[in-house]
Amino acid sequence: MERSGRVVAVTGGSGGIGFAIARRRAALGDRVLITGRRPGPLQSAAEAIGPQASALACDSADPASARQIVDAAVERFGRLDVVVANAAHVPALSSLLDADEADIDLVWQTNVAGPLRLVRAAVAGPFADGGVVVMVGSLGGQALQPDMGLYSASKAALHHLTRILAAELGPAVRVNAVAPGLVRTEGARVGWEAAEAMIRARSPMARLGEADDIADAVDFLVDDGSSWLTGQILVVDGGASVQLGRRTRRTAAATTAAAAAATTAAAATTAADGGRQ
Ligand SMILES: NC(=O)c1ccc[n+]([C@@H]2O[C@H](COP(=O)([O-])OP(=O)(O)OC[C@H]3O[C@@H](n4cnc5c(N)ncnc54)[C@H](OP(=O)(O)O)[C@@H]3O)[C@@H](O)[C@H]2O)c1
Repeated sequence: MERSGRVVAVTGGSGGIGFAIARRRAALGDRVLITGRRPGPLQSAAEAIGPQASALACDSADPASARQIVDAAVERFGRLDVVVANAAHVPALSSLLDADEADIDLVWQTNVAGPLRLVRAAVAGPFADGGVVVMVGSLGGQALQPDMGLYSASKAALHHLTRILAAELGPAVRVNAVAPGLVRTEGARVGWEAAEAMIRARSPMARLGEADDIADAVDFLVDDGSSWLTGQILVVDGGASVQLGRRTRRTAAATTAAAAAATTAAAATTAADGGRQ
């Protein structure tokens, strides 16, 4: 594996996609600062990653957390090169009109204001000479999904924030986002548990996403192979966003069989007609 040697802060790095990203970066030789709200799982995650990981318990919805994260990285590791804004609040399913008042505020603070504050804190300090930002958006930020309007709108805002920050911060700082489809994590269990069979049948890649699929994409956005890439939203969804335009293998096979049957029937009709002539 390529040895990177950078310092990476991952919000929500105590579980799910954030943990996979942090574990991967540590495996590549980076030192990682991971955050989460619950100290127990956070500490366990840091221990599972190993000595290159350090934990900071904080809530990304708290405006003070951005400075705390940047300061902790610099104090503990002497620098900060990459921020991955991954923590998000996922509200209960509801129409926009019925969305809970508290959720409206929490979604905005966690999913949009939190990442913006984190970038501002990094740029005001350790990113003065350059840095890399990766936002963890969502396929929901590009598509309409029933009863997920509040969450989806926050991710759409995060995607646009990504583009605007890229325009404002280049060339020193690159800013991109990864937009996952449905990924097998605890946080998304209600979504994938009920839908896994359907996803296997209909999605072009015929499987759910795994947290490591997203870590793969984040690696690309962090590393120098993407050095000319900024302001982009990289959708990583196993093809879910193109499945409606695609015949499934079963449909294709059924169509081929139907075409063969039609050809046989036509040949039989022609033969019969020929016999009558
Ligand atoms: N899984 C999917 O299908 C999917 C699809 C599209 C996009 N995404 C995005 O991917 C990201 C990660 O999702 P996930 O499925 O991995 O979630 P997850 O399994 O619920 O894990 C989220 C992690 O973030 C921490 N966290 C949650 N809220 C936080 C906050 N306010 N401040 C700091 N840490 C917080 C959690 O720990 P604590 O609870 O202890 O804080 C937990 O360790 C999110 O941005 C999500 O919107 C996920």
